[in-house]
Amino acid sequence: MSIDGPASLRAHASARGLFYGAAVDTGLLRTDAAYRALLAGQCNIVVAENAMKWAAIHPEPDRYAFEQGDELVAFAEQHAMQVRGHNLCWHEALPSWFASTVNPGNARQILTEHIRTVVGRYKGRIRAWDVVNEAIALEDGRTDGLRTSPWFEMLGPGYIDLAFRTAREADPHALLTYNDYGIEYDHPAGFTKRAAVMALLKRLKADGVPVDAVGIQSHIDATTSGLGPGISAFVSEAQALGLKVFLTELDVNDDNLASEDIAVRDAAIAKVYGQYVTTMLANLAVTDVLTWGISDNHSWLNNSKYHKEKHPGRQERALPFDASYHPAPAFYALRTALDSATVRNA
Ligand code: XIL
Repeated sequence: MSIDGPASLRAHASARGLFYGAAVDTGLLRTDAAYRALLAGQCNIVVAENAMKWAAIHPEPDRYAFEQGDELVAFAEQHAMQVRGHNLCWHEALPSWFASTVNPGNARQILTEHIRTVVGRYKGRIRAWDVVNEAIALEDGRTDGLRTSPWFEMLGPGYIDLAFRTAREADPHALLTYNDYGIEYDHPAGFTKRAAVMALLKRLKADGVPVDAVGIQSHIDATTSGLGPGISAFVSEAQALGLKVFLTELDVNDDNLASEDIAVRDAAIAKVYGQYVTTMLANLAVTDVLTWGISDNHSWLNNSKYHKEKHPGRQERALPFDASYHPAPAFYALRTALDSATVRNA
């Protein structure tokens, strides 16, 4: 059965005015022709898995390294795909020079210059930027839920406003996104984090900060029973604020599935894909679905500490394609979920 051309995820998404895409390993993009063909055939949007993060794109205080980002954007344009930019402000993937160079006196200037330079480089060529990534961390103990990240420590809560305002100036047409994880489930931690993210979005809107979208990372546990009405209500609230909603980093990890039978795990994973994506797409605000990688052999989940301890040597089945670039049951579940959506006209 063909999964190419009109049968691809790309075609099924496009037919409904949706975007389906994947995070791209720009190293593999250079070396693996089958990987390139798979991405070009299945995606109408791509995002760099790491190449546009600070550590990769800003390796020295006065030097930027745009090669891999440029290659990804060129590849996307060659295949008429959109691009998401990821990301401009995060507490992780900071370059080695960061700690010794950035201080409260220069942090504002360094953050501003970085965003101007990187967003300016790709101006007009990026559909959406993840401007601020993972700014909420209840475990850091603040009542507003803000993570006490290096940016927060040096600039206070206003670093978020600064990042969005600077990005807007640098590329007025990119959809500026706040992206976070751990807001999908209806267990208590999910509930409180979701509330803190929503409070942040409302605060930004009330203060006139240019935020256009919220990204729900969607790293999901295949055994979860926690995907309840909470996340749908969150999407409706975001829509009421005038925001678009993107599923930005979808994958379904099987670490808590004991079975060594791949078919058993695949069935459970496909079920989560189908239910979750169908539910999310029921709201018209949701327009983009990206998986964090496209094939199981290149999933970040294979490197997680929990995974390696629990299932040494076992490969995740988290993505639509397996290690041989053959479609998994998750591919078909995802495609059916895309088909369930009402046509978007954006
Ligand atoms: C991950 C990449 O997949 C890994 O290759 C890298 O080592 C660490 O970062 N949330 C995010 C992504 O926003 O940037 C992370 O990507 C996964 C979690």
